[in-house]
Amino acid sequence: MELLEILRKWKRNLDNYFTYRRTFLLITIVFGLILYIGPSFFRWLSQSNISVEDIAERCLSDRLTAFYFSAEDFNANIQHVPLRSGEKLYIPYTGNGVFGLHVHPESPILIRNGRILSLPVNFHPIVSVASSMGSGKPHEAVVVHYLNGIVYKYQCYSSGLYVSYQYYAHRTLPAIFVQDIKITNPTNENFSLDLRQLKVTDWPTAVSQTMNFEHDSGNHEYEVFTGLVKVPSSNDVVAVSIISKKLTQLVQVQSYSSATIQVLTAVNYSEPISETAYATWKDIVEKQAMDHMRRAVSRANRHSFREDHVNVWAQLWSTGITISYSKASDAINGDKINATMYYILSQVASPLHEENTTKQKKAELANSLFYAEGCFGGYHTLQATNLWRELSTLDDVNTAVSLWLLTLEKQGCHNLLKAGASGVVQAMVLSFGALRFSNQHLEFNIHPKYLHRDYVFRRLNYGNMTHVNITVIVQEDNKAVLYVALDRSDKSYYACDGGCLDDPVLLGPQKKMFPVKLTDPVTAILYITYDKQHMEDLRHTIHLKEIVE
Ligand SMILES: *[C@@H]1O[C@H](CO)[C@@H](O)[C@H](O)[C@H]1NC(C)=O
Ligand SMILES: *[C@@H]1O[C@H](CO)[C@@H](O)[C@H](O)[C@H]1NC(C)=O
Ligand SMILES: *[C@@H]1O[C@H](CO)[C@@H](O)[C@H](O)[C@H]1NC(C)=O
Ligand SMILES: *[C@@H]1O[C@H](CO)[C@@H](O)[C@H](O)[C@H]1NC(C)=O
Ligand SMILES: *[C@@H]1O[C@H](CO)[C@@H](O)[C@H](O)[C@H]1NC(C)=O
Ligand SMILES: *[C@@H]1O[C@H](CO)[C@@H](O)[C@H](O)[C@H]1NC(C)=O
Repeated sequence: MELLEILRKWKRNLDNYFTYRRTFLLITIVFGLILYIGPSFFRWLSQSNISVEDIAERCLSDRLTAFYFSAEDFNANIQHVPLRSGEKLYIPYTGNGVFGLHVHPESPILIRNGRILSLPVNFHPIVSVASSMGSGKPHEAVVVHYLNGIVYKYQCYSSGLYVSYQYYAHRTLPAIFVQDIKITNPTNENFSLDLRQLKVTDWPTAVSQTMNFEHDSGNHEYEVFTGLVKVPSSNDVVAVSIISKKLTQLVQVQSYSSATIQVLTAVNYSEPISETAYATWKDIVEKQAMDHMRRAVSRANRHSFREDHVNVWAQLWSTGITISYSKASDAINGDKINATMYYILSQVASPLHEENTTKQKKAELANSLFYAEGCFGGYHTLQATNLWRELSTLDDVNTAVSLWLLTLEKQGCHNLLKAGASGVVQAMVLSFGALRFSNQHLEFNIHPKYLHRDYVFRRLNYGNMTHVNITVIVQEDNKAVLYVALDRSDKSYYACDGGCLDDPVLLGPQKKMFPVKLTDPVTAILYITYDKQHMEDLRHTIHLKEIVE
């Protein structure tokens, strides 16, 4: 009896021991196995399912991941080639006011003709890399990054090989077009690739010569093309000189390594001249283009070469607008606004930021930036449907840019436009809200019925040293309120709401709230000024009553 009891107890213990220990052990072993062989197992499992298509596709989405957040905020536009569903066809474009370019291997360089960059020169600077061996067509995507003013292109081959391109029309060295190309070969094969550049087509007056520039501890060959371009509907011509690096035809990229290629192109051209003056101007533009190229190659290796460009774009965008997204079918949203602004800024020079602008000239330009009296004189442009056009071809873009610049100029913003791109951003943002500098104050001239979306107008310049932020928030009851803050100021500023019915409020870095009042007759819904007396006077001279809805 006692022995039986002991045996039972022993067995029970043993059972317990085994259930716990055994399960634990088993789990440990299984986990260990999963950790140890799992990854390779899954890789094997998935690889056996991956077609070559998927390798290229995955490579492409890896390249694009970095842009997803920016694209969500409409600070970048991603488009596959060919376009995929949900993507917006805004042509990839780069420009700096001296020249512009639709980023495509067959695109000519476009130079100034009046207000916009619309005169084509039959030189095609875009370099493409072609994988010669039968590796099929690459999967391809283009990203225009508005914030830093760089166009990115990616080509992924099914072998795993991929090519990354960056293009930009340099902002501080405005004669220079930059192409940075990187070929990455993560495979165990060696590749040899073709470099193609169309260069000159159908430009009969162009003559070419070869010259050397020294950089990267070596002598490099460049080709100089100089010729004339006829100005449409006039007897004038423009003398144009373009210098571009001579490329080797083939690039070898060994397994597990990469190759980088930088191609600089310099552009200089004359004003419209008579054909007889061409002989003189030919030599001048050629020499100037060479000067520009010489300075660029001596700088190209330094880190600041790209940074300088990126910083100018960041500064240009410091003034801007954020608008809440509307699903209404005809609504203008951030994507269209940002793209339109980018194209316009790309066609306007920014002499304030360019290297060869003298101090004196910069001071002059800064002055026109502070003198915005009369701008913007028209109705708020967010409502002007003819200004918000398709942007899917070069003609669309040029028409939009031309219309916008004309509108801003004729509606009182000519002084701001003289300041170049910085002034154009100011003018555009003022126009979006029908904000106007008038008689020593800034007024917000929109009818309350249009305030059914949230807006932020960031960093509007007021005079020399002051930046104003104006926020419109639509509340639960569908009524809008305004918040005003000074981002930076050199003196006291005051604001009052519709018709200045209430006392002026001192502005500061804290947001101050203002109700939106509908008055009879309709007046501006907000006034801002540093001249308190002027504001008191306004209050006593605008005789109106508030309409309570
Ligand atoms: C690639 O090229 C290197 C150097 O020329 C050579 O050593 C290597 O064997 C080549 N690899 C293949 C896979 O051909
Ligand atoms: C050509 O170069 C000269 C000298 O640097 C410069 O003043 C001029 O603005 C340039 N022309 C264009 C169209 O960029
Ligand atoms: C692009 O649009 C969004 C939405 O309006 C805005 O928040 C963003 O600031 C814009 N980007 C730039 C560079 O202005
Ligand atoms: C730019 O300015 C520098 C001096 O500030 C001068 O040496 C150079 O020739 C100028 N370059 C061009 C292309 O005008
Ligand atoms: C702008 O401000 C600076 C510094 O306060 C001053 O030196 C300059 O004269 C001002 N310029 C104008 C146009 O008011
Ligand atoms: C003004 O707007 C800018 C950009 O949105 C922001 O960085 C800044 O903090 C704002 N300034 C104030 C005082 O609210």
